[in-house]
Amino acid sequence: MSLNAKTKYSGLAMLLHWLIAVLVIVQWRLSEAAEEAPTREAGGQIMANHFALGVVIFIIVAVRLAWRQASPPPAPVSGHAPWERTLARLVHFAFYALLLVMPVAGWIALSAFGEPISIWGLVSLPALPVPQNPDLGETIFELHGASGIALLVLAALHALAAVKHTVLDKDGTLWRMLPFGTARG
Ligand code: HEM
Repeated sequence: MSLNAKTKYSGLAMLLHWLIAVLVIVQWRLSEAAEEAPTREAGGQIMANHFALGVVIFIIVAVRLAWRQASPPPAPVSGHAPWERTLARLVHFAFYALLLVMPVAGWIALSAFGEPISIWGLVSLPALPVPQNPDLGETIFELHGASGIALLVLAALHALAAVKHTVLDKDGTLWRMLPFGTARG
C-alpha cells in the first residue's frame, strides 16, 4: 500500500452512511409505533411520517450512490479473504437495492389504495397510475414489511462483522467509515 492510498471513505460518504443507518431505524420504529397506536387515526398519522421519510431516504440513497460514482470507496482491506470481500460486496449491493426498491414499493402499494404521499405538507407525490386494488396494495405492503425485516437482519450482521473485524482481527475496518481511528488498506 502506498502512503497516499485512500483507506477511508470520504466525509460525505460517512455522513450519508450514518444518516441512512439512523433513518432506517427510525422508519422501523415508526412502522412498529403505528401498529401499536391506540386508534386507527393515530396509526395513520404515524404512517404519514413513515411515508414521507421513505421518500427522503430514497433521495438520500440516490445522492449517496451518485457521490459513490464521484468519490469511489477505498480498496478493500487487503487482509480480507476473497469470500469475505464477495460477501461484503453482495451485502452492500443488497442494502442499496432494498433502500431504493422499498420506498418505491411503498409508493406503489399506497397508489393501489388511490392515496398520494404528502411530504409533511410541503410537496405531494400523486398516486401512481396503478389499478385501484386494496388486495394488491396489502400484498405489496406485506412484501415491503418482509423486506424491512431482511434489511434489519442484514444491518445487524453487517454491524457485527464490522465490529468483529475491528475488535478481534484488529484490521481497522470500522475506522474506514468513521472520521477518527486508524484505517488500514
Ligand atoms: C441500516 C443500517 C446500515 C446500512 C443500511 C449500512 C449500509 C452500508 C453500505 C451500503 C456500505 C457500503 C458503502 C459503499 O461502499 O458504498 C456500508 C459500509 C460500511 N458500514 Fe454500514 N450500514 C449500516 C449500519 C452500519 C453499522 C451499525 C456499522 C457499524 C457498527 C456499519 C459499518 C460499516 C463499515 C465499517 C463500512 C465500510 C466497510 C468496508 O470498508 O468494507 N454500518 N454500510
